[in-house]
Amino acid sequence: MQRTSNTGPAAVHAPDATLEVAVAAGGLRSPRVVMIGAGQLARMTHQAAISLALDFTVVAASADDAAVRAGAPWRRADPNAYAELEAAVAGADVVTFDHERIPPEHLQQLAAGGYNLQPKPAAKLFAQDKAHQRGELARLGFPVPEFAVVADAASARAFARRHGWPLVAKPPRGGYDGRGVFVVADETELERLLGEQGTLLLEARLDLVAELAVLTARSTNGEAVVYPVVETVQVDGMCREIIVPARVSDAQRTEAQQLALAISEAIGATGVVALELFCTRAGLLVNELALRPHNSGHYTIEGCVTSQFEQHLRAVVGWPLGSTELVAPAVATVNVVGPPDGSDPRAALPHALATVRDVHVHLYGKGPRPGRKLGHVTVLAANPDEALARARRAAAVLEGRAQ
Ligand SMILES: Nc1ncnc2c1ncn2[C@@H]1O[C@H](COP(=O)(O)OP(=O)(O)OP(=O)(O)O)[C@@H](O)[C@H]1O
Ligand SMILES: [Mg+2]
Repeated sequence: MQRTSNTGPAAVHAPDATLEVAVAAGGLRSPRVVMIGAGQLARMTHQAAISLALDFTVVAASADDAAVRAGAPWRRADPNAYAELEAAVAGADVVTFDHERIPPEHLQQLAAGGYNLQPKPAAKLFAQDKAHQRGELARLGFPVPEFAVVADAASARAFARRHGWPLVAKPPRGGYDGRGVFVVADETELERLLGEQGTLLLEARLDLVAELAVLTARSTNGEAVVYPVVETVQVDGMCREIIVPARVSDAQRTEAQQLALAISEAIGATGVVALELFCTRAGLLVNELALRPHNSGHYTIEGCVTSQFEQHLRAVVGWPLGSTELVAPAVATVNVVGPPDGSDPRAALPHALATVRDVHVHLYGKGPRPGRKLGHVTVLAANPDEALARARRAAAVLEGRAQ
């Protein structure tokens, strides 16, 4: 009998053939993960799903969504239409999310119908409703800013009398990228906003020393990990820069990581959780939570052993989690935001790559609109200041602000 050489065609094709036979016999099938939402977070999760050979599908509102443009398998649904949503997730082993904007009642209905939602609707609600989040976290004893949830002018005025102007007002649902944050200067403006929104979460405007974020991941098998603490810089309410490690004390870093682990456990989260923290002179306060991969974790793609996207997938299917160690002393990520003249960062890409040779560029394939998040860049370096300077330079070239 002739022996097959290791390097011959038969050997090359052998593993595929084995896989096909096993699938045909029903013995081997990758978990089928359906992600509701198809923006840049789903696009980068799709990249991670490819490496793990997961059966990954996104639920998109349109063929123009960032993950669909990247070739992710997809089904169309408007998450506000229950029947469409249920049809789109049919057959999933796990249903997960790239955003918050799904009616909580629909998630409860899917769960009641036997769908395996990760995170579960009760945990996801912490990211969907800021009033619920503030109230529950305060009840559980976590440090939150002083707040009031008001639905009438008299209660709003009473809060303003205690805290002074300006106030920060947030509609409980629907905000992102700072779009749900109103700095209110006086009573007239507050009453107008209340009339428009019905209910508002009110907070004093805090004097922030810095803003921090910490990612955790909790697997459905109970395992939990925490990532390094990052410093975030917001411009017009939108996250623009991420610096790792955060330039705060070791004690504050430890406190932030412990808070993140304790909160994700207390609310029964699964998958990646991003905890946003306000750093004030009086200490750390919880700003908000997201139960999904998050802008503040984009640095993990090149900066950590395990990216947040791979970690999220491993966590929601119940696989062992990966190391969260940094692979460089410092990492910085800067978002690429559509410039006012509407120009497309792709036009400046070759120049950016030539200018900052060690930059990692991620463009989301979205149409360029002024102020729209179109991508991000990450640089690894010996210290945070150097990483940030190089990442800023690359982003500036992409946005046409520098040569
Ligand atoms: N009470 C406050 N005092 C001072 N600044 C605040 C306050 N609340 C929010 N901000 C600022 O507005 C930013 C956005 O707020 P928040 O995270 O609540 O909104 P969001 O619309 O959910 O934003 P995103 O989706 O970008 O996280 C914060 O990161 C912070 O810079
Ligand atoms: Mg936020």
